[in-house]
Amino acid sequence: MQITDFKLERYFAAYEFKVRYLLSASDCEALTLAELLAMADPAALDLWRGLSLGYTESPGHPLLREEVARLYNGIAPDETLIAAPEELIFIAMNVLLAPGDHVIATFPGYQSLYEVAEALGAAVTRWALAPNSSGWQLDLAALERSITPRTRLLVINFPHNPTGHLPTAAELDTIIALARRHSLHLFSDEMYRLLEYDPAERLPSVADLYERGIALSGLSKSFALPGLRIGWLASHDRAFLARAAAFKDYTTICNSAPSELLGIVALRSRERILARNLAIIRANLALAEQFFAAHRGAFRWLSPRAGSVAFPQLISTTSAADFCRDVLDEKSLMILPGDVFDFGGNHVRIGLGRRNFGEALGVLGERGGTVEG
Ligand SMILES: Cc1ncc(COP(=O)(O)O)c(C=O)c1O
Repeated sequence: MQITDFKLERYFAAYEFKVRYLLSASDCEALTLAELLAMADPAALDLWRGLSLGYTESPGHPLLREEVARLYNGIAPDETLIAAPEELIFIAMNVLLAPGDHVIATFPGYQSLYEVAEALGAAVTRWALAPNSSGWQLDLAALERSITPRTRLLVINFPHNPTGHLPTAAELDTIIALARRHSLHLFSDEMYRLLEYDPAERLPSVADLYERGIALSGLSKSFALPGLRIGWLASHDRAFLARAAAFKDYTTICNSAPSELLGIVALRSRERILARNLAIIRANLALAEQFFAAHRGAFRWLSPRAGSVAFPQLISTTSAADFCRDVLDEKSLMILPGDVFDFGGNHVRIGLGRRNFGEALGVLGERGGTVEG
């Protein structure tokens, strides 16, 4: 397979571990092993201490699948498949698509959500979100117009990376009704779910709402454990899951045994971990609002509704790419330019999940005049 470079990941590969301030990370401040083990119940600690480092059950540890299933209303443990999140996108697209198929995907977006489809010979229509006065909005009429007789798959990602947008329940219902009317699979990337700033706005998982819905989630963002490389698919479409499990024999076969056990501990402590991460995000959001209000001549702040990222717009004659490059060179501070999402409009992505967010914003603010430029 020939596939275009993943621009965001290449950007991170160049700078993530070299810069002093990472203002663009999409994950939450990672938990340490000690912090996580301190949350373990005695039974999980026994499993951890006696853990054999052999191959593991290919679809995932049965106890982990049980914990994953608890996150949904009607998903059974055997309606889940555990693997790394990015791996699951690759597997799902390979299983669902053939050359000549048509796919519609939210845009801007995490590149693999549409790039793998294109590499497989599918045609992709990018369903663009647009900024409005209170944040971001979806154009449901445009979605409906994009559906063709060749459309097989609709890919959505809410809470959305990079905008932090969250549709209303009514909008999600409309999306599902369209998918159902046209017998489309609906791949719903829910990696940032459970990080809604207002819990009343949390949407049910697509896995619970739609028989051809496939939800992707994992421990990397909302659970602050990206290094475990644990994610999952949840779906009532058992035939799809069986094909995905068979495809996994060509990727990793099975998951890392320590990661699976730590995943069980994390999901058993989910309320505590989510509360910790939301507290960090809420505090950072307040700082971001102050910062962008103070620099309203330089940036247009577009409020996120959920998750750990936002996508403000740079109001400047300087391009986002040049601005981010200057900040890297002068301040050793990394911000992602909207270019890595192939999205125009001079946006930058900022990450709200890290503890040194305020310090990093302070460093950015020191550029004063240049920011306003
Ligand atoms: C929307 C979205 N989906 C999937 C992933 C992949 O997660 P992971 O890096 O843990 O494989 C990411 C990571 O940034 C993401 O933002």
